[in-house]
Amino acid sequence: MNAAPRPPTSAMKPLLSVLAGEKVWPPPVWLMRQAGRYLPEYRAVRAEVPDFVALCLDPVRAAEVTLQPIRRFGFDAAILFSDILMLPWALGHGLAFKEGEGPVLPKLRDAAALDRLDPTQVRSRLAPVMETVTRIRQGLAGEGFDRTTLIGFAGAPFTVACYMIEGGGSKDFAATRALAYADPALFDRLMDVLVEATVDYLSAQVEAGAEVLMLFDSWAGVLSPTLFRRHVIVPAQKIVARLAALHPETPVIGFPRLAGLMVGAYAQETGIAAVGLDTGMDPLAAARLVGPGIAVQGNLDPMALVAGGTALRGEAEAILTALRGQRLIFNLGHGIVPQTPPEHVGALVEQIRAA
Ligand code: CP3
Repeated sequence: MNAAPRPPTSAMKPLLSVLAGEKVWPPPVWLMRQAGRYLPEYRAVRAEVPDFVALCLDPVRAAEVTLQPIRRFGFDAAILFSDILMLPWALGHGLAFKEGEGPVLPKLRDAAALDRLDPTQVRSRLAPVMETVTRIRQGLAGEGFDRTTLIGFAGAPFTVACYMIEGGGSKDFAATRALAYADPALFDRLMDVLVEATVDYLSAQVEAGAEVLMLFDSWAGVLSPTLFRRHVIVPAQKIVARLAALHPETPVIGFPRLAGLMVGAYAQETGIAAVGLDTGMDPLAAARLVGPGIAVQGNLDPMALVAGGTALRGEAEAILTALRGQRLIFNLGHGIVPQTPPEHVGALVEQIRAA
């Protein structure tokens, strides 16, 4: 057995302190999709690699774009530049990103398609991503970002299954939900494959240098409460428990987007250290549902960041006021959108640091 989680000390990085149970104020801040098309320096690298999957498999460039927003804004966390859909890619499922269309995948609808997935290849096919993780850690240390924590991540099994079954994005993932009811045995088997592969992938990221892990369940909220327990809470429980046995010092942040009232059960039953709140959640009400043992992360509207000015200041202030002095990790309720002016991000970080 490994040692128990370290008690927090003020010498720890702010994000790690909050995750270890300390109240840190002003709160640590980072933003989902902080590396991306709103930054001209990202667009310049992206132009060199037109294929998005190839960019995710290019350790030098992926590490570079991860560090770009840290250099500009000094965020408290860097998040590995990759994509949740690199796991189905590594399972041999196939993945392409079409310009203006988003991800396109084959549609997994039967046992034959499930049997074609090959979990034995995950670590070797994703070895370049692990190299990216190591390079980012070296880059953060080399450039003096001593207080910035490196977050590794994966999609949660249900959200990854959504894209594999639907064959791409959707507004409501109707085919995925229909399959969950029509063929529960097939659906459970897919979830089991994804749980195993996700543990393997996240564990490899920790070995390569990730200090915190995040599970993105972007479509958790399309499920009924029954299916939410079965395909969101239970898989997260399994992943967190397996990771806790392998890497007891590495906290996990869960993001069950659109979970609504289910956020309480999710936070309390999965073993996560912090829960990400989406834009629509009242932060104070959500924090009460979540309970005192778990930190909350969120949840500024990405459109307030587009608007800037007094709208942005007011929305950020509402979150800071609701959770002042609590275990908060300031973030957005969903990812930064490409039309966001970078100056608005700078103004937000200044406001948080003065909170
Ligand atoms: O900065 C970061 O947040 C780290 C990297 C990261 C990306 N995607 C890069 C990316 C992370 C953590 C993700 C997670 C992700 N990817 C999620 C979960 C979070 C969420 O947004 O709900 C999901 C559902 C995906 C799947 C995905 N990737 C879609 C639907 C798309 C197309 C839509 C879009 O924004 O273009 C992507 C592409 C993608 N992933 C981009 C980036 C920077 C844009 C690609 C480009 O540069 O052309």
